[in-house]
This record gives sequence, structure tokens and C-alpha cells, in this order.
Amino acid sequence: MTPAERDLRYYAALGLAAEASHLALGYFNRRDSLGITMKGAQDWLTVADGKVEEFLRRRLSALFPQDSVIGEEGGGTASDALWILDPIDGTANFAHGDRNWCISIGFLADRRPEIGIVAAPALGEVYAARRGAGATLNGEPIRVSGASDVARAAFELGWSTRVPAERYLEVIARGYAAGAAVKRAGSGTLGLCHTACGWSEGYAELHINAWDVAAGIVIASEAGAYVNDFFAGEGIARGNPILCCTPELAPALRKITGIA
Ligand code: IPD
Repeated sequence: MTPAERDLRYYAALGLAAEASHLALGYFNRRDSLGITMKGAQDWLTVADGKVEEFLRRRLSALFPQDSVIGEEGGGTASDALWILDPIDGTANFAHGDRNWCISIGFLADRRPEIGIVAAPALGEVYAARRGAGATLNGEPIRVSGASDVARAAFELGWSTRVPAERYLEVIARGYAAGAAVKRAGSGTLGLCHTACGWSEGYAELHINAWDVAAGIVIASEAGAYVNDFFAGEGIARGNPILCCTPELAPALRKITGIA
């Protein structure tokens, strides 16, 4: 893929994120329209998840018919030019009326993360990055905090029922024992973005899916974060552990989380 072809996709994704934000906000602001169902324990689904993904898929296939798409709700298979979408990340927050949710649009060329656009419209935030071109929040450059002292660090630990609770509890115990503050805000994508702009020092989760992190990985890496090799092995199709943090804290957080 040429730089011009990649840039075309970057600007297209920015525009689509703005339109998708409008669509998602319409549902968020009309709570009687959410049509909440559960895919499993603590696994929320709203009408907006399906509608936003459907919109993004329709527009991407019209704009870039050769590219393929993997989305949280509709699945899909990988190819050399691959969009990875989470229509609403932080669906539990969205369903509860908590504004910490976002739309995540990632793009990989030859399995390498190239573009990340994350829009959190209820918070008025748009994070954007292209590999090699830095990361921004609402157009302003962002950077990780650079913190190196674990006893001053706050890191977010994502959670789902895909991993036994005991394993999360062990990480939390090791984190507090090392002097770190451990938090959870309910959107893995925004957890990576918050690390990217220095609002926390890291984000970790023992298993997460590619649509939750594809865009955030580009944003965090471009903001100077250490990110593990998430797409190794079956990462695209089956997910992997994620560890993203300031480079200085990587050795300590690898030990705390057990994520290599
Ligand atoms: C979830 C969120 C959550 C993370 C889970 C994800 P969803 O995604 O990102 O923070 O801990 O692993 O499944 O269901 O809200 O799109």
C-alpha cells in the first residue's frame, strides 16, 4: 500500500467516525431507544452496536471495495488491507448512561497496524494516529506521561468473564503490593488512549479482542507507549493479552501482569 493510499483511508476514517458518532449519540441520548440485550454475563448489546457497525461496513465497502472488515458484531476474516471495528467499545457504560464509551476504527496493512481513529462523542474527544506520524487528541499532539516510578503510577486493568476472576485478582494484588494504583473504567480502547495522553500510565488486560485494541494500539504507540506484540499468533482472530504503558514502566508492569 502506498503512503497516499493509506492517507486516503486515514481521512476517510476520520469522516466516518464523525458520522458514526452522530448516529451513536442519537441512541445514547434517547435511552428508550437502546434495546438492551445480553450476549452473556456482563456482555452487553444495544441496538446502537449493530446500527453503527452496519453503517461503517456499508460505507467502507463502498469506498474501499477491495478491503476486508472484521467487526465485533458481524465478524469477518483478515486480509492484507483490513479494517477492524468496534462500533461501541464500553457497551456496558453506554447502556448505563456512562459517557466513557467510544467508536473504534483500526486499519492494518499486511497485518501491521497503520491507522487508529477513536471517537468518544459523549466526551467530545477524537483520538487519531497514523504509523510514523504521531498521535493527536482533538488535533493536538499527545504523549505518554513518561512516569517511571511504579509507586506513582496508575494503571487500568481491563476485565471480562473470558478469564477466570482469580487471575485478575492476582494481578490486582501484585499491583497494589508494588505500590501502583489499579483502576477500571470499562472501555479497553479508551484505556489505551488515556495511556497515550498521560492520563494514566498503562492499560493491561489478560485477554482482549482485536476490535477493542486495533485503533488504540496505533494511537498509544505513536504517543510513545510500549505495546506488546498483540497481533502475534492468532491475535487478529482470537485476541491476546494486551500490555500498554510508558516504556520506563514496562519491566515492572510485565512482572505485575505476567504479560510478556
Ligand atoms: C469490552 C471493553 C472492556 C474490556 C473487555 C471488552 P465491549 O468491550 O473494552 O473494557 O475489558 O474485554 O470486551 O464489549 O464494551 O465492546
